[in-house]
Amino acid sequence: MAEPKTAELMDKIVSLCKRRGFIFQSSEIYGGINGFWDYGPLGVELRKNIRDCWWNDMVRRRDDVVGLESSIIMHPKVWEASGHVGGFTDPMVDCKASKQRFRADQIFFAAVVVEGKTVGYVTVLESERIAEELQEKAETFKRKKAIQGKLEPIKPRDFTEATPEEIPLIPSPATGEPGSLTPPRAFNMMFETHVGALSDESSVAYLRPETAQGMFVDFKAILDTGRVKIPFGIAQIGKSFRNEITPRNFIFRSREFEQMEMEYFISDDDDWAKWHRYWIDWCRDWLVSVGIPVSALSEYNHPKEKLAFYSKGTTDLMFKYPFGVQELWGIAARGDYDLTQHGKASGQPMEYFDDLKKKRYVPHVIEPAVGVDRILLAILCSAYCEDQAPNEKGEMETRVVMKLHPRIAPIKVAVFPLLKNKPDLVKKAQEVRDLLRPYMTVFYDEAGAIGRRYRRQDEAGTPFGLTIDFDTLGEKGPELADTVTLRERDTMKQERVKISDLVSKLIERVR
Ligand code: GAP
Repeated sequence: MAEPKTAELMDKIVSLCKRRGFIFQSSEIYGGINGFWDYGPLGVELRKNIRDCWWNDMVRRRDDVVGLESSIIMHPKVWEASGHVGGFTDPMVDCKASKQRFRADQIFFAAVVVEGKTVGYVTVLESERIAEELQEKAETFKRKKAIQGKLEPIKPRDFTEATPEEIPLIPSPATGEPGSLTPPRAFNMMFETHVGALSDESSVAYLRPETAQGMFVDFKAILDTGRVKIPFGIAQIGKSFRNEITPRNFIFRSREFEQMEMEYFISDDDDWAKWHRYWIDWCRDWLVSVGIPVSALSEYNHPKEKLAFYSKGTTDLMFKYPFGVQELWGIAARGDYDLTQHGKASGQPMEYFDDLKKKRYVPHVIEPAVGVDRILLAILCSAYCEDQAPNEKGEMETRVVMKLHPRIAPIKVAVFPLLKNKPDLVKKAQEVRDLLRPYMTVFYDEAGAIGRRYRRQDEAGTPFGLTIDFDTLGEKGPELADTVTLRERDTMKQERVKISDLVSKLIERVR
């Protein structure tokens, strides 16, 4: 079956997430709050499985990475030393007419030039088709104003590149009229709060905008535990908060989100490019291991001239979301900047004494940093499928199925008694549920026709379904007694399996 179109696909995913209990708008009964999301019964399991897989692969299965859980609110000096108080900003633009707020680098505009003369400006918001949309708008502009002559090809620029003379002439994306956009100004994205009873300057603190600073600030404390030797990493999973100007694309850009970050410390004279490549490959392979197709991933190397002065290189693993190819995972080579900054600001040198090299130095760092919510969205987009399956009457109909990798599927197996009004079937089905429960998440469902119960689980992404029927009770003879039908979600193939073999068979397939 043809894949749904991109905007349509996103709508379908959002609606499935709500219908099946993956993700809801936060505080929906009060009209919702922009940039905040709640994870329902299936969403919370999916998130937990993503985190657990990452933690197992990144920390537990390695000798060179240890874990950390630092506090969300840290000493405000942390954020001064890290540069966030001074520089964690996005360029913000207000539309005075509509009172809407935009990120300047997400507004794109172009001059409409006819036979060498600028006759006006057109604007669009960031999308997959910026140049085409601007070109179409420029043609419409020329036609509506009945301007004669040849339209020159448009040259898209973002609003941060607009000159002071151009700003009043550029139409607002909200109203389509020029004259209401303000010049861009720096907007700090950290959420401020106050610690203690007094609300004055001295009590200001911040909700962390990244988990990474915890690893730098606790670097010495972790060294002192004696468990680590360079090269080694410190990993953390936790909530981060950014007052994004334009949260959007569902959970892609939120104001409260969760990060999984790891700081990998290497010696000052080690080959940073080799480690950088190692971690890019590791991250890509890990994404594939949780069900993201390698064909949907690409790499974007930040141009040298746009890197922070201390950065040696940053590569983003990009994912083809329905709304465009966007950053999923950033892997940055940050040199010794962070440890040096905290060493200076705290007066406690963040140095490492290398026994082998017999020297003291500030380690350099490679940082793979990713958002759980972005991975979750990439997984949902990769898993969504529509195919054809027969309904109860044998007629073919469209089936929506989330082809989630069994490793991260919220429910691993669903157990169905064929009929709910037959106590022997129900009893047997409940025995099977209780047999499997210690090993995996099991969902027991006896409500409605069996076909509809399968459909519900297909939408939940449950990889296996078990039906307990009269054959299980031995009514067709002893050979089928204590066997069940095991149905595989993607192929819908069914096989007869002995109850006594279920645990080993399923464990093997869900790990
Ligand atoms: N310590 C480095 C750091 O935080 P970043 O590129 O700003 O780098 C890392 O963020 C990752 O966190 C991103 O690649 C993305 O996956 C996720 N992320 C960042 N901002 C986000 C937001 N507003 N909503 C959801 N995820 C976000």
